[in-house]
Amino acid sequence: MTVLALIAIDGPGGSGKSTVARAVAARLGLAHLDTGAMYRAVAYAALRHNLDPGDGAALGQLAGRMSLEVGERVVVDGEDATAAIRGPDVTRVVSQVSAHPEVRAEMVRRQRAWAEGHGGGVVEGRDIGTVVFPHADLKVFLTASDEERARRRAADLGTADRGRVAAELAVRDRLDSTRAVSPLAVADGALVIDTTARPVDDVVEEVVAKL
Ligand code: DC
Repeated sequence: MTVLALIAIDGPGGSGKSTVARAVAARLGLAHLDTGAMYRAVAYAALRHNLDPGDGAALGQLAGRMSLEVGERVVVDGEDATAAIRGPDVTRVVSQVSAHPEVRAEMVRRQRAWAEGHGGGVVEGRDIGTVVFPHADLKVFLTASDEERARRRAADLGTADRGRVAAELAVRDRLDSTRAVSPLAVADGALVIDTTARPVDDVVEEVVAKL
């Protein structure tokens, strides 16, 4: 198997990770993996099975046995959950579900297997450069102002209630950045880019130029 580049892109919600990761992958002909969608899929399956989002052991078992495809569509145990994983119910519990070490261990295992199977790729998330692929060819950390992140997220969700979106993002930021296991953090040697006032193409250029 040809070994291609592995690029890790981390950052908080609304920092531009997904847009930039997709564009970089398309530009370089690499596969793209959205690991946030994987944690959302576990949260979705937990809600379907009425599991307690605080029960790490049960959630770890669920994560181990569920079938999960993450690509253009997100398919959980044979069911298309692409839209549902972005909904308010999943968004409310995903930070709690993803904080459990049992869940993370299983997702990290799947993420490494994915990269192995694809010979590399562009992988986006919160702990990709710090924990999952600390030896990635390139590590990127994206940021943006709180106002801009809320504006983007509200536009994605098609809501005018930017205040509520900003409050939800702030709660998730705090949980994701302060959890004991693999908190959101800038990896050693990461290229840090503030995307606030920058066109996507410009950010993609900066990333690709660093390879
Ligand atoms: O990128 P996103 O907003 O779709 O991610 C959803 C949640 O998943 C986020 O609040 C934290 C968690 N997550 C994580 O813990 N580790 C990752 N590598 C990716 C996401």
